Amino acid sequence: GPSTSFFDAVGGEPTFRKLVDEFYAGVADDPLLRPMYPEEDLGPAAERLTLFLMQYWGGPNTYSAQRGHPRLRMRHAPFRIGAAERDAWLRHMRQAVDRLDLPPELATALWDYLERAAYFMVNALEDP
Ligand code: HEM
Repeated sequence: GPSTSFFDAVGGEPTFRKLVDEFYAGVADDPLLRPMYPEEDLGPAAERLTLFLMQYWGGPNTYSAQRGHPRLRMRHAPFRIGAAERDAWLRHMRQAVDRLDLPPELATALWDYLERAAYFMVNALEDP
């Protein structure tokens, strides 16, 4: 019904955990992205992204309880994110979204957001 959040519609926490686990499985083998992650263990980064996405889509506000206001552009400022990094990020995310096998309108809504957010996170001009 109209009061059902997107979070519930896609299956709640297990769906977001699966999405982010698949995504980070791709990042773990990515020669461009993997070196950007400061920690040896990708688990904590995966947990932060999972909690953020759950909160964004109407699930529990655990992300902000633990991390405060998202301020995602600011939090990405230490990392050089150009078109290549953005496209690699989106490639792994596309694969992860596809593996969820969501109804098309839900998959499209999720993907449109992720694509916009990734373009928004770009903070570096390309080399001339
Ligand atoms: C954190 C890379 C886009 C959400 C990070 C980190 C890196 C990174 C290296 C630090 C790992 C950590 O300690 O958590 C990138 C790259 C992107 C990108 C290369 C390419 C465009 C996005 C997008 C979102 C996002 C589109 C949201 C939809 C997050 C969140 C964190 C994070 C929630 C943890 C922030 C915190 O609480 O500290 N990202 N990111 N990222 N990223 Fe991204």
